[in-house]
Amino acid sequence: MDKLVINGGKTLSGKVKISGAKNAVLPIMASSLLAEGITTIKNVPNLRDTRTFIDLLSILGAKCNYENSILSIDASNITSLEAPYDLVKTMRASFYVMGPLLARFGETKVSLPGGCAWGPRPVDYHLKGFESLGAKIDLNQGYILARSDHLTGGKISFEIASVGATANILMAAVLAHGKTSISNAAIEPHIVQLCEVLVKMGADIDGIGTSELIISGVKKLSPVEITVIPDMIEAGTFLMAGATLGDIELENVDPNHLSIVLEKLYEAGCDISTDSNSISIKRNTAINPVNITTDVHPGFPTDLQAQWIALMSVANGKSVVTESIYLDRFSHVPELVRLGANISLEKNVATIQGQDKLIGAQVMSTDIRASASLVIAALIADGRSDISRIYHIDRGYENIEEKFRFLGADIYREKE
Ligand code: UD1
Repeated sequence: MDKLVINGGKTLSGKVKISGAKNAVLPIMASSLLAEGITTIKNVPNLRDTRTFIDLLSILGAKCNYENSILSIDASNITSLEAPYDLVKTMRASFYVMGPLLARFGETKVSLPGGCAWGPRPVDYHLKGFESLGAKIDLNQGYILARSDHLTGGKISFEIASVGATANILMAAVLAHGKTSISNAAIEPHIVQLCEVLVKMGADIDGIGTSELIISGVKKLSPVEITVIPDMIEAGTFLMAGATLGDIELENVDPNHLSIVLEKLYEAGCDISTDSNSISIKRNTAINPVNITTDVHPGFPTDLQAQWIALMSVANGKSVVTESIYLDRFSHVPELVRLGANISLEKNVATIQGQDKLIGAQVMSTDIRASASLVIAALIADGRSDISRIYHIDRGYENIEEKFRFLGADIYREKE
């Protein structure tokens, strides 16, 4: 297993190119299963999760070729309709193959994802959605079996706007007979991109970018060529590091995806300038404490909550962070405390009393974004930090240590 070693306290400067978005590319990869022929996806980040998804598509019989951030997927000859436990357990997004396989082949068997580092994360919305489209759902030995000779349009309304369920149902509804409506659909940029990809393939979707989607099923879809949108969570992570440490410029980023994050950084006193596809942030040695509450898009993303806590750990006073999407997503808190942060936790609310400095320590990664918060805190901290179990960070960040090293950080990877 690898660990990251960081000698903190170094300022950062220079440009960093943001990679393609993990949460956009995974459903797009799944959507390739909807059509015979070769789908070409550009700007694909080299992540553990994208490689796991390539393995999954290959098990299903798709022919994948990944080189220089371009991925081609030929889904002409699908030979298996089963997503095995070994893969699904390592990456919940494997569940995305369910919608397209059910729509194109009328049948699929996908392992239940199971729990994760922050609670049970159910898939009931996905399953109820498929049932509304006429699928029969059975659970057998940890696997969901979904069958339907004829998916037909239905009405679906989510209690909470779920990213995963919106994507999965969309990918089933595009080939169903008749009209499907999804109310309270997710409107995250990666969902908008998935809709655009499906439309390019020949799907008929109204209301793209709104929470009311109307899908009129079509008979057949064709493969397309697409470029993945920039990763707003990776961008947000670099911004939070830059807020206290550097004058850095993020390239290949869409500032519109990060409006609330930029607003909160302004409130924190940061000097930020934006262009159509770049964001610059200057070092601020006196960060104001700023409260946030996570919410669905365009609210503050839960995937940046941990990194915000890391930044607030060195603010000039007390801030409050409320997690409203995954109520117990706080496994980073005890690790940040090891680095000297002063954080108290009550239910889904973290109260952070900013400190003058953090001190390097040995800490452990627990999930993708928690690991990113530890990297930010360790970069800020005086002295050496060792962050173990960084396979988590490799799931969602491409070459994170190289990107930070290029900006002037003292960070390297070692075998544990
Ligand atoms: C996606 C992202 C993840 C992000 C999350 C919230 C991917 C691959 N992952 O996860 O990084 O943190 O969105 O922005 O894109 N829910 C149910 N039943 C369901 C589905 C969801 O109750 O069947 C609840 C969840 O417990 C949670 C909320 O709905 O409280 C939102 O979850 P959801 O948007 O589905 O998250 P994911 O798609 O799993």
